[in-house]
Amino acid sequence: MGVNVLVTGANGQLGRSIKKQENQWPNFRFIYTDSKTLDITNQNAVETFFKKNSIAYCINCAAYTAVDQAEKDQDQAFKINALGPKHLALACKASNAVLIHISTDFVFDGCKTSPYTENDTPKPINVYGRTKLQGENFIVQTTEQYIIIRTSWLYSEYGHNFMKTMLRLSKTRSEISVVNDQVGSPTYAGDLATAILKIMDSKTIQYGLYHYSNTGETSWYGFAKTIFKFAGIDVKLSPITSVQYPTLAKRPKYSVLKNDKLLEQFNIKAPRWESSLKKTLGGLTEHNQG
Ligand SMILES: NC(=O)c1ccc[n+]([C@@H]2O[C@H](COP(=O)([O-])OP(=O)(O)OC[C@H]3O[C@@H](n4cnc5c(N)ncnc54)[C@H](OP(=O)(O)O)[C@@H]3O)[C@@H](O)[C@H]2O)c1
Repeated sequence: MGVNVLVTGANGQLGRSIKKQENQWPNFRFIYTDSKTLDITNQNAVETFFKKNSIAYCINCAAYTAVDQAEKDQDQAFKINALGPKHLALACKASNAVLIHISTDFVFDGCKTSPYTENDTPKPINVYGRTKLQGENFIVQTTEQYIIIRTSWLYSEYGHNFMKTMLRLSKTRSEISVVNDQVGSPTYAGDLATAILKIMDSKTIQYGLYHYSNTGETSWYGFAKTIFKFAGIDVKLSPITSVQYPTLAKRPKYSVLKNDKLLEQFNIKAPRWESSLKKTLGGLTEHNQG
């Protein structure tokens, strides 16, 4: 049977990536909830859910992830990214459950030129990053049994993400321009899901804050170029600057995360971003053919 694992926001990229691998983890009995079945901004609902179900772990995959929209919708972003995690942390503490929460490279301002460690001071430059940092802080202030994992540039076969946007645009456009002055690490949500489940499966959990992303770094332009190369798509791709592509939210120029702590504590090694991307695109092609 295994212990109960609550997955919140389970219809998003990460939630669906966890569901895809659930059969490989017989020690866990997954309970999936979405924004309709468990709204994490509703403290009563969260409390009641934990009282009714015996939860050993909660993986919080729920978030307000629309980075530009968050600039106009600060209250809602704060509720979902900051108050939601607080409610889950309170409920986990009351049930002696472990909270696994996902945060973001966007808690950093991007002024560094070498990978960010867990000891670097966050300084978000947009609403999304600020509300995600507030969520981290609430958790740290509320419970001791937490794992916060900051990740970056998530993509997968599910939902909305940069890889799928590029594949879609290439069907209707012969020319695509992509920013070349923001550097980070594209991360396959399936790899992050595996890392989370390995942490939960480890004999002793060292609680705390960790960074996890696929290794290596590139710009959004470099990411797009590699997507088209691996997918065998011929499209004219042009590098542009962030100034040429203004967005509501500012984004860090550099937000590569250093994964060493996770490797040392849990012996979890992240794949290179190119190799995960190649596999994901290969899977998509097989799926489309099948
Ligand atoms: N995507 C990225 O590039 C990226 C980068 C760094 C870090 N992260 C972090 O990684 C985690 C997973 O991201 P993701 O890409 O899997 O996100 P996602 O695909 O946008 O999924 C988020 C899910 O949260 C749900 N949700 C929203 N409000 C909710 C509420 N009040 N109660 C319950 N569920 C709610 C959404 O459901 P509805 O659709 O019904 O609203 C959606 O299914 C997030 O914490 C995110 O901040 C993401």
